[in-house]
Amino acid sequence: MRVLVVGSGGREHALCWALAASPLLTRLWCAPGNPGTAQHAENVAIGVQDIAALVAFARDNKIDLVVPGPEAPLVAGIADAMAHAGIACCGPTAAAAQLEGSKTFTKEVADAAGIPTAKWERFDNADAARAFVRLRGAPIVVKADGLAAGKGVVVAATVAEAEDAIASFMEAGTLGAAGSALVMEECLVGEEISFFALCDGTNAIPLGAAQDHKRVGEGDTGPNTGGMGAYSPPPAFTPELEAETMVRIVRPALAEMARRGTPFTGILFAGLMLTTDGPKLIEFNVRLGDPETVCLLPRLQSDLLPALLAACDGELKQFTLRWHARAALAVVMAARGYPGTPVRHTPIGPLAAAEAVPGALVFHAGTEMLNDRLVSSGGRVLTICGFGPDLATAHASAYRAVGAVPWPDGFFRRDIGWRALG
Ligand code: AMP
Ligand code: GLY
Repeated sequence: MRVLVVGSGGREHALCWALAASPLLTRLWCAPGNPGTAQHAENVAIGVQDIAALVAFARDNKIDLVVPGPEAPLVAGIADAMAHAGIACCGPTAAAAQLEGSKTFTKEVADAAGIPTAKWERFDNADAARAFVRLRGAPIVVKADGLAAGKGVVVAATVAEAEDAIASFMEAGTLGAAGSALVMEECLVGEEISFFALCDGTNAIPLGAAQDHKRVGEGDTGPNTGGMGAYSPPPAFTPELEAETMVRIVRPALAEMARRGTPFTGILFAGLMLTTDGPKLIEFNVRLGDPETVCLLPRLQSDLLPALLAACDGELKQFTLRWHARAALAVVMAARGYPGTPVRHTPIGPLAAAEAVPGALVFHAGTEMLNDRLVSSGGRVLTICGFGPDLATAHASAYRAVGAVPWPDGFFRRDIGWRALG
């Protein structure tokens, strides 16, 4: 099997690492990749949005399977373009990727499918939005309808805070076109879980759950980020809750997407709130999470490659995945300044000591080689995974390896896993 992974983050390094272990693999490429993916794959200098170049490369190199990591190429139609060229691609079409691209679309699918989610209403007018907030009171969640790079959601504790968000999104135009319409939501309370399901258009199988840490600062303080660390499995998400999520959220979403004539193939990422009334959907994404993938894949005992192929071939009905009885915990090391403007091109010393820590794996995200030396090149730079028989052991190994990374310009959260570890 000849496989092309698309992306350049910690998620894609973990995908390359897992695929490289498959006995079915004959050759692996990653576009554009990073110095970590280069340990397992041949990096190809094609950007994730350059769909035409990716299709041409896949055709010229007789690729059997394309595995897109991030949402951008999916929303831009990479799966459609690969299908047109007769190449298997484990991801949704652009039409099905609207589950991540538009909040209103997701809410309409959820309502049509009877999926438990926060009550919501859409507003195109700031005065109507303000009247609604005064009527409903706080807490209330104000969301820009369009993609706003994580800056479009305000969980308002007071009516005044909600009114400020409405003024800033709709009247001051701080988010541009993304804020011209708003979704107002009931505020859900509970633990947040990232749940993943592998889907073949009709059938879905669980691909594990993790708890992310979105805020930049310890104790869940400061601005939101792409994720500063994660652990898996989260004890709060019991097997019963997973079964309930499959029955009440994932399968109804698949059925509704198929009914609309846009069946969903690939990885469905359900952002859940574990409320006292059971799991409720916060949002769907159409891909694996980052950093969640870094603590999911080291727990997977089955070969990942046949599972992804079965999803493309509509053959997940009889498919099962086996998991190691182990826990994993991932710590993101970010460049100073992140999530604002991260310092770039700071030197990272040799990683051999961190890589040698037993039960630890070092994954690259925003790194690059500059004059033969490893330097930082992005906000989230390295993701260190620890694994072991239990979460405490995984935690200890991850932080031992983090401590062995010679990178004075990086920072990380010291409290990843605090909800489960106390
Ligand atoms: P989203 O961009 O929809 O993922 O929202 C970003 C974050 O806002 C989520 O990860 C939650 O922490 C929070 N959030 C979004 N919707 C709600 C809600 N209805 N109730 C409580 N928190 C929410
Ligand atoms: N870590 C959250 C995400 O990948 O969207």
